Amino acid sequence: MIYITGDCHGNFERFNARIFPEQKTMTKEDYVIVCGDFGGVWKRNTSDREETMLLDWLDSRSYTTLFVDGNHENFDRLDSYPIEIWKGGKVHKIRPSVIHLMRGQVFEIAGRSIFTFGGASSHDISGGILEVDAPDFEKKRKALQKGFLPYRINHVSWWARELPTEKEMEEGRRNLVVHGDEVDFIVTHCCASSTQAILGGGRYKPDPLTNYLEEIRQKTKFKKWFFGHYHDNKNVNTEEILLYEQIIRIW
Ligand SMILES: [Fe+2]
Repeated sequence: MIYITGDCHGNFERFNARIFPEQKTMTKEDYVIVCGDFGGVWKRNTSDREETMLLDWLDSRSYTTLFVDGNHENFDRLDSYPIEIWKGGKVHKIRPSVIHLMRGQVFEIAGRSIFTFGGASSHDISGGILEVDAPDFEKKRKALQKGFLPYRINHVSWWARELPTEKEMEEGRRNLVVHGDEVDFIVTHCCASSTQAILGGGRYKPDPLTNYLEEIRQKTKFKKWFFGHYHDNKNVNTEEILLYEQIIRIW
């Protein structure tokens, strides 16, 4: 079985057996995929008690939890895990059964082929990105708080790594070619530029990642594409499905 859901932001309440009773019949060979903004590797302190307990709790579920990265992840910490090959693609194993599916990979999971590509541009940064070491940090922060402008802090709550490198995008292209540019599912955090335009009605600007995903959308044969980021549950069309709190079975 494969289930899929949207942004968690470090809140894993939806995986409680009361809310997600299907897990009672699941095993570690069954999977729940999070479409980014997993948020379980977030705190600066690598041994934060609450976060450690949450990850251990997720690992103790009957199934295996998989996630692509979103924009709200601590990329310094994610990147510090060793890269391993798992089911055909590159991963970071956060726990034995809590696994980060890296960008531009094709996995064979439960008999389905899945292309993964995390990351997205943050939309909640209209106040800007502050540098914690800057001499005017506190002054700027107070002014932004006074004006209720959303801001983030570099390497504390925002990372440039939210957007991919050219190398990651090229790796994705290469891996898709190896699979004949055809997969069963695509799992990302954001979506293709044209899909984003339908969802946002002009609110969101295309960026190098949405443009890359547009290219992938045009040239790849896929059955369904699941993504998060826009905090809603919506079928954009019959193939592209935006998820937030819902957990749906896809296989
Ligand atoms: Fe989010």
